[in-house]
Formats: sequence, C-alpha cells, structure tokens
Amino acid sequence: MQINFAGTNLSIMNEYDVKKIRADFPVLEQKVYNKPLIYLDNAATTQKPIQVIEVVNRYHSKLNSNIHRGVHFLSDQTTNAYENARETVCKFINASKKEEIIFTSGSTGSINLLAFSFGEQFIRKNDEILITEMEHHANIVPWQMLCERKNAKLKVIPFHDDGVLDIERYKKLFTDKTKIVSLIYISNTLGSINPIKEMIRIAHDRNVPVMIDAAQSVQHIKIDVHQLDCDFLVFSGHKIYGPTGIGVFYGKEKWLDKLPPYQGGGDMVDIVTFEKTTYNELPFKFEAGTTNYIGAIGMAAALEYISGIGLKKITAYETELLEYATKTIDDLGGVTIYGRSPHKASILSFLINGVHMLDSGMIFDKMGVAVRIGTHCAQPVMQHFHIDGTLRASISLYNTKEEIDYLCKAIEQVKTMFA
Ligand code: ALA
Repeated sequence: MQINFAGTNLSIMNEYDVKKIRADFPVLEQKVYNKPLIYLDNAATTQKPIQVIEVVNRYHSKLNSNIHRGVHFLSDQTTNAYENARETVCKFINASKKEEIIFTSGSTGSINLLAFSFGEQFIRKNDEILITEMEHHANIVPWQMLCERKNAKLKVIPFHDDGVLDIERYKKLFTDKTKIVSLIYISNTLGSINPIKEMIRIAHDRNVPVMIDAAQSVQHIKIDVHQLDCDFLVFSGHKIYGPTGIGVFYGKEKWLDKLPPYQGGGDMVDIVTFEKTTYNELPFKFEAGTTNYIGAIGMAAALEYISGIGLKKITAYETELLEYATKTIDDLGGVTIYGRSPHKASILSFLINGVHMLDSGMIFDKMGVAVRIGTHCAQPVMQHFHIDGTLRASISLYNTKEEIDYLCKAIEQVKTMFA
C-alpha cells in the first residue's frame, strides 16, 4: 500500500517502527480469551506507554504534594512539574502563552466550562449557537442546556451522506444573532476531518468566535491554534495516551479575560471576604479546587512521547493503515461503511449487512478484537442514517496491518456464522 505523503510516493510502513512502539505499551502484550488482544477501540480511550505510567507512578510514590499551596520541598517539585506541563501543552498546540492553557477534567469538562462562562457573559434571549450534525454529545448537550437557560437557539450544520459537512448551508446559517460556532475537528463516528480552518475564517468574517473540539484529532494530526486561529480548543488526556480525568481548555487570552469563572473554590481566588471575592489571574481563575495535577504531569509525558515519534510520521502511518483497512474491508463485500469523506482519519464505522451490531461485536470480542458498538455518543449521526448504531474500529499509532487482517478475519467469521 502506497500513499502520497508530503509530495512523496513512499510507503511510511517501511520507516515506521511499529514493533518498537508497541513494546512501550504493556497492555498490548496480553491475551484475552487466550487470543492476542487486538485493540481497535482507541477513539474511546488510548492505551498508555510505559513512559507515562512511570511518570504517574513516580509522582504518586515519591513526589506527591498539593500544588500552589506549600513552601515545602515536595509541593515545590509538584508545582514546578505541573506548571511545566502547562508549558508543554502550550508548545504542543502552539498557543501564544501558557496562561491560555487551562487544565480541566477532559474535553467534556472544558466544553461545559465554555458553555457556562461564555453563556453567562454573551448569550441573551434569541441568540444563536452553531454546531454540526456530527457532534459528540459533549458538544451538543452543554449548548442545549445553555439555550434552555437563556432562551437561545441551537442551529445545526448538516452533513452529506458521505460525511462531508455542507459548507454552503453553514454560510447560510449565520445571522446577526449568531454568537458562537462550536465544531468537531475529526468526527469520532465518521472519521471526517472537517475543513475547520476555512470554517473559522467564515465565522471570523462575521465576527463570530469558534470553539474546536479536538478530542479526536490532537492525537492524529498536528494542531496549531495560532495557524488555525481558533478562539477556543479542547482535548482530553486519556485519548492522547495520557491519564484519564485530565484535559485542556485553550482560549485566546483576549477571550479568557472577558469570561467569568466557571466554578468557585480554592486557588481561583484573590481576596475572599463575606462581602465580595475577587478572582485570581489567568489561568488559575478557571482552576478551582485541587486539580488533577498528577494527571496533567502524566499528560505532558504523553505529549512528549508523541513528539518523540513525530506527529507527521504518526499521521502518515495511521492514514496508510486506514486506507488499507478501508480497501480490505470493501474488498470483502457485505459490509457497509459509514463515513466516506475524502479527508478521513482513524475511524471505521461499519455494519456487517444483515447482522445486528451486538451479534457481530460479541463474536469479535471472543476472537480478541476490541471495537466499540453503539451510537458512540453521537446519536444524531445514527438518526441521519436511520440506524441504531455501528461497530467502530478506531486506529492508533500502535496498530498494525496484521491486526487489520485479523479484523477482516473476524468479519468473515461473523458472515459465515450468520450466512
Ligand atoms: N468519546 C468517546 C468515544 O467516542 C468515548 O468513544
């Protein structure tokens, strides 16, 4: 399999040492039901390399102490590591300054923060918020809740049946009431890579800010918030080989300065009296209470791990693997793939014709193949296709051609059993 990457026609398979990468992920070594584990549920969560596991263990076993609150040795060590983690995130997404990086519990926590704070400050009755038809529930429900509180309106940018957004319709959805656009970059269900740079430009031409949900993209393609010019961006640690319960909310400083805090508590304050409280400066204004600081340090280790391999290489490898998987499954016949955008990453949503997804999933499981089954927290996508759900194989930097071949074997097994 050859792909045209960066103007060359060379296969990345030859230079990408997937064996060496797999050796970093202890979980992949195991067998389930006495069969080698084929882990293709990476969009739900990714596995952790030993480099992340060791950092998290070291902080729990030797360096644990609360951040920003002590003058003693341990607190100092942990606080420095936490603030260095912020710096690492800042560089990873090319933010202008580390004050623009807020640690949250994950993408969902970040979007809830934005929907609340932006909503309090800028959304009034009859205002409009734009999202797409392919959003994850995390980028639907917080906005819906805001619309209910404020009597505002959620408007939806539709996608075509191949999973490509209808950009002409998008342009027509803007009115003078449009206050924010909130967009998924790579669909967790269809795999479509949306043309967000163009969409951000279209919104900015109308003076509307844009939030990008990068939960399914930051691990697959290079994100440069400066170059994208997005106003806000969110992602989760656990989907990028880091720990669970940690994530990032990025915002341009000019916006963060204008937003009120989301949660109240320790560390986000300046002076507290019973009459009035003044708030801490950025980024602490948005980090109430003890954050998941070891999670943040672990996530930074994950970002460094990715940078060590190189996102350009990862993108090329995963793209080639996805193309191989798509072609091989298409060649089998009897399988419907949902999401055929020409710009796709990582995700293969499909149904084996005439077989319920649960039956397929159970046979896959017994063969050691882990995929997700259901609506993938994107029920409107299923409503678009009038289906209950799909099987979803999601590819990551440690998957191999051999695993895709085994997935195909599992598909054939299902077909044979249900013939
Ligand atoms: N958001 C995760 C997924 O897409 C859980 O599977």
